[in-house]
Amino acid sequence: MKSNLIYLKKLELFKELDNFKEGQFFAIADQKIKNHLPQWISFSPHIFWLKNPEEEKNLEVYTRAIEFFLKQGISRSSTLYAIGGGATTDFGGFVAATILRGINWVAIPTTLLAMIDGSIGGKTALNMPQGKNLIGSFHAPEKVFICGDFLTSLPEKEWFSGKGEVLKYGFLSQEIHELIVKKVPIEEIAVACAKFKNEVVEKDFREEKERIFLNLGHTLGHAFEYNLKIPHGQAVAMGLKYLFKVMGLNQSHSLWLEMVRALKLPAEKMEIGQYPHFDLCAFLQFLEQDKKKVDSKIRLVLVKDIGFCYVEEVPLKDFKTKIQSYAEFKP
Ligand SMILES: NC(=O)c1ccc[n+]([C@@H]2O[C@H](COP(=O)([O-])OP(=O)(O)OC[C@H]3O[C@@H](n4cnc5c(N)ncnc54)[C@H](O)[C@@H]3O)[C@@H](O)[C@H]2O)c1
Repeated sequence: MKSNLIYLKKLELFKELDNFKEGQFFAIADQKIKNHLPQWISFSPHIFWLKNPEEEKNLEVYTRAIEFFLKQGISRSSTLYAIGGGATTDFGGFVAATILRGINWVAIPTTLLAMIDGSIGGKTALNMPQGKNLIGSFHAPEKVFICGDFLTSLPEKEWFSGKGEVLKYGFLSQEIHELIVKKVPIEEIAVACAKFKNEVVEKDFREEKERIFLNLGHTLGHAFEYNLKIPHGQAVAMGLKYLFKVMGLNQSHSLWLEMVRALKLPAEKMEIGQYPHFDLCAFLQFLEQDKKKVDSKIRLVLVKDIGFCYVEEVPLKDFKTKIQSYAEFKP
């Protein structure tokens, strides 16, 4: 199931939103982008604001959101808007998927990462203390309004995070790899990434075939994100690097370095040695929770060449041993 990706400028987006000015506009929005939105939205009683979306993407806040919208009179014919980064669209999408057995929703991504990945494809999620995105559903947004004007306030570390996911796409698509190494403007690369993901999702909505490849870098990436408390895309880029190193994929590692340089990503921030609080035990423990684990095997997405990925099921025990014996992981 493909979402309708609609690119528009801020004034055009405001026009779309203003259609709801007099009616009920139900939304979950990131408080940090309040200043980007039409003023009437700040005063609307139907908005559930998130202060720290990644920390609030949990069951407790979910229950509060459901209670809030039920009190506000949400109905099965309502549409829920999710306005923010990937954590907000994951959370908002999950509320939409479950309230009143599911209502329509629209995503308005406000980070680079959400514009190229998080808001597209209908994977919605909540975190659990045991790990990230362990609760969720497949519920595609009806539309995704993509407005690059939100990015004017994006902090450096969130650009880094978004570009980290761009790096992943550089392994999945030859076209995107070329755009990266030619150093075309990031806005152009972002459009290609969003289109690529939307097409993959159209072919395999429930992640039974090629959509699995979009998880490239995420097995170690999620573990780094959780362990080091670093942004998602930075963790994915770091997950890619160490996946290639641990599995001895030297050619893939060279391509990683080439794209890191082209995207001007700070390679030193993707070295475990930079993080004295890295906890190897907790890191290995985290891998036990991986959703792609089947019995005692972990399903790793690996790269043969650009645009050619494959899945290998590796006994978790062996994968952990490889990690433990790789010098950079040693305390
Ligand atoms: N569903 C999917 O397919 C999918 C794919 C990739 C990632 N994700 C999820 O997305 C999340 C990561 O997304 P993210 O990086 O957008 O995280 P995020 O939503 O936490 O946003 C990152 C930070 O940027 C702030 N922010 C948002 N928009 C801003 C703007 N325009 N200006 C300034 N600050 C802004 C947020 O408040 C937050 O502090 C993770 O939870 C990840 O699991 C989901």
